[in-house]
Amino acid sequence: MRAGTRKSLIAGLDIGTAKVVALVGEMSDSGEVQLLGIGSDLSRGLKRGVVVDIENTVKSIRHAVEEAEVMAGQPIRSVYVGVAGGHIRSLNSQGIVAIRDGEVSNGDVDRVIDAARAVPIPADQKVLHILPQEFIVDDQDGIREPVGMSGVRLESQVHIVTGAASASQNIVKCVHRCGLDVEDIVLEQLASSQAVLMEDEKDLGVCLVDIGGGTTDIALFGGGAIRHTAVIPIAGAQVTNDIALALRTPIPHAEEIKIQYGCARAANTSEDETIQVPALGDRPSRRLPRRALAEVVEPRCEELLGLVRDHIRRAGVDGVAGGVVLTGGSARMEGLVEMAEEVFEMPVRLGHPNSVTGLGDVIRNPVYATAVGLLTLDHEAHNHRTNSEANGLRGVLGRMRGWINGTH
Ligand SMILES: Nc1ncnc2c1ncn2[C@@H]1O[C@H](COP(=O)(O)OP(=O)(O)OP(=O)(O)O)[C@@H](O)[C@H]1O
Ligand SMILES: [Mg+2]
Repeated sequence: MRAGTRKSLIAGLDIGTAKVVALVGEMSDSGEVQLLGIGSDLSRGLKRGVVVDIENTVKSIRHAVEEAEVMAGQPIRSVYVGVAGGHIRSLNSQGIVAIRDGEVSNGDVDRVIDAARAVPIPADQKVLHILPQEFIVDDQDGIREPVGMSGVRLESQVHIVTGAASASQNIVKCVHRCGLDVEDIVLEQLASSQAVLMEDEKDLGVCLVDIGGGTTDIALFGGGAIRHTAVIPIAGAQVTNDIALALRTPIPHAEEIKIQYGCARAANTSEDETIQVPALGDRPSRRLPRRALAEVVEPRCEELLGLVRDHIRRAGVDGVAGGVVLTGGSARMEGLVEMAEEVFEMPVRLGHPNSVTGLGDVIRNPVYATAVGLLTLDHEAHNHRTNSEANGLRGVLGRMRGWINGTH
């Protein structure tokens, strides 16, 4: 094959609370991904982003992966997989070292990142990502690539993401039971950010909010780098639950009604629009004004967006001039973007995955943001690997792989 046209197969598995999606694509040398297959199934084994039923999760993964394999006509052997849930923690840290030979080398960069990662982490947590934000050489800050620069002192600022070891181990167990290897475990909002955010938004400052079924995942960017990540355990399932309780209808009907008629702002619905609501047991169904449904949905959406706003404020990020980008299935709720503009007092847009080709418009749906991002994220850059360790694959990524696949 000619140089530049070599392609490798890559697969992503988004094990969400509402659905499991498997994507398989071909990646070219330049990192562009063309999708070949997609498979999905309802997710029945997760609660708030965390696996609580291994058997059912395995069934959903098998179904999704087989569907994607048939469509692509290629077997999937290993996957990049997402992780989320209330156990995720993140912190910013700094490191400082002396530059050895007057000019920053790869070794100096490795040492300064190692210095930054030397923070106490609870025994039940594992490091998922070490994301360099910026480097400072003497008094010059805002440096993204310090190698080759002259100076005496090198500082690094990094964002460290950790998660409960048991949560990741259960995901890995499910994937292994399907006969697949895990390439890497990726924080879900990092993957979604890769799929829906533009580089200039990340430079200006932007907040990505992935509102799924069980969790709302936040990632704040500024100056081109990640500044803050958080997971809020409220999302679409709570809205469905509210509807089921308020309208006294079974959960599956509440879910259907929400998707078909749900609206985040009661003011957006007209007085005379009505909907059919199936009742519990053998009672007859009723007609209700659509506004009554919106009045149930509105307070939960307001609560959720208020919590997101608090996170943005608490993160102390200088500015989010690029605004907020909503993605994930629940971001499709009618009126939510408008409501978010009022709550955040910032421009808000709906983020559709746009970093891959193939499969036409099917994939340009916020539901697939995480799965698409798993394929297009620069995985090496998200697991800073020291140069000396790279050859033996004993860097962070190597350690992660060993830990993930049970070799240490
Ligand atoms: N058109 C729609 N309007 C409102 N809600 C919707 C719509 N379409 C999907 N949803 C909701 O989106 C949620 C599923 O979103 P998504 O597929 O992003 O979740 P997930 O990735 O499986 O979950 P999580 O990321 O929380 O683990 C469900 O609660 C579903 O009801
Ligand atoms: Mg999700």
